Amino acid sequence: MSISLAQQVMRRCDELAGITDERGCITRTFHSPAMQRANKLVGRWMRDAGLSVREDAAFNLLGRLESSRRGAKTFLLGSHLDTVRNAGKYDGPLGVLLAVACVEKLRASGVTLPFHLEIAGFSDEEGVRYQTTYLGSRALVGTLTGKDLATVTEKGIEKARRKAGEFFGYAEAHIEQGPVLEARNRGVGVVTAIAGQSRIRVEWEGRAGHAGTTPMNLRQDALCAAAELTLAARACGVIATVGQMTVKPGASNVIPAHVTMSLDVRHQSDARRVAAVRKLQAQAKAIAKRCSVKLTWTIVQETNSVNCDPVLTNLLRKAAGKHEREVLTLPSGAGHDAAAISVMCPVSMLFIRCKDGLSHHPDESVKTADVAKAVAVMSDFLVALKERHA
Ligand code: HGY
Ligand code: MN
Ligand code: MN
Repeated sequence: MSISLAQQVMRRCDELAGITDERGCITRTFHSPAMQRANKLVGRWMRDAGLSVREDAAFNLLGRLESSRRGAKTFLLGSHLDTVRNAGKYDGPLGVLLAVACVEKLRASGVTLPFHLEIAGFSDEEGVRYQTTYLGSRALVGTLTGKDLATVTEKGIEKARRKAGEFFGYAEAHIEQGPVLEARNRGVGVVTAIAGQSRIRVEWEGRAGHAGTTPMNLRQDALCAAAELTLAARACGVIATVGQMTVKPGASNVIPAHVTMSLDVRHQSDARRVAAVRKLQAQAKAIAKRCSVKLTWTIVQETNSVNCDPVLTNLLRKAAGKHEREVLTLPSGAGHDAAAISVMCPVSMLFIRCKDGLSHHPDESVKTADVAKAVAVMSDFLVALKERHA
């Protein structure tokens, strides 16, 4: 049964991939027209699986399977439906659609649960629209900041907040977005921790000038300063990425006067990450002085690393052990909604092998057999959870 459910998950990922804000590639950003259409389509699939469906104030799509047990608590499954620009089909949607497939599998087997089960299709894990990640999942757990609310044009998203203690746990299936499972020839793996991340905006203010007549030693070239920091980030000893850069005025014969760049710094150890950010900021100040440009350094968002819950992770590992020899456990270098949800309840994650470890790329791909394995593992995990709550 898992293989046919997996085939359905793959077909649905294909169909969902056709819903985009940018023709010719997959892009769905927070509350965009494409995200609204995606919520409608996935909401229909959730209803077909017997879930009651609603969208909360932060545009998270929520499917719910009520338990008949009085006073039952809720277990949360899910992942995100938004994407990066020019995304792959699976980063986010696979976890949501796989959770729906688990509900279908359990219901087809006549399994009832002593707890309510809710599936979240989060509205903004990637943070592409506002550069603040986890808007949807942070709204759900009540950790939005005043700055978030001032930045987001849609008002009232904080009303999505759920009651403390409403969820007794969270599990998220997600592609690994890295090379480990493929290198070790495993279809699935269990996540131990999620790396912390610092998202920084760096602005350089130099002075425009004539490209032909201004002597090199008299320039205030904002782009040269940005380039020096980019190379410093590459050599900083932790995972660091400059993904965005805007250059103004942007003419080939004018010395760049203003550059805005993003800086994304990650590490499993928060102390190592914070130290690396501090070192890069000191280097940026020295570069600004050397290039006679003005530096503005803004921390857009900092998310600490999160350990997955040992009890849930052990249950997930045992469930995986029924379908995979020698279950691998591994940390996640990528951020996930589980990191945001962890402030409200214990979290766990299952990774699924992806080809070449590639993600945030249109060539992202997974094997149907691995998806079938993940459906079986997540379903067995829910049955194990049932036995613990019997
Ligand atoms: O950037 C990340 O780690 C995740 O894909 N949002
Ligand atoms: Mn993701
Ligand atoms: Mn992503």
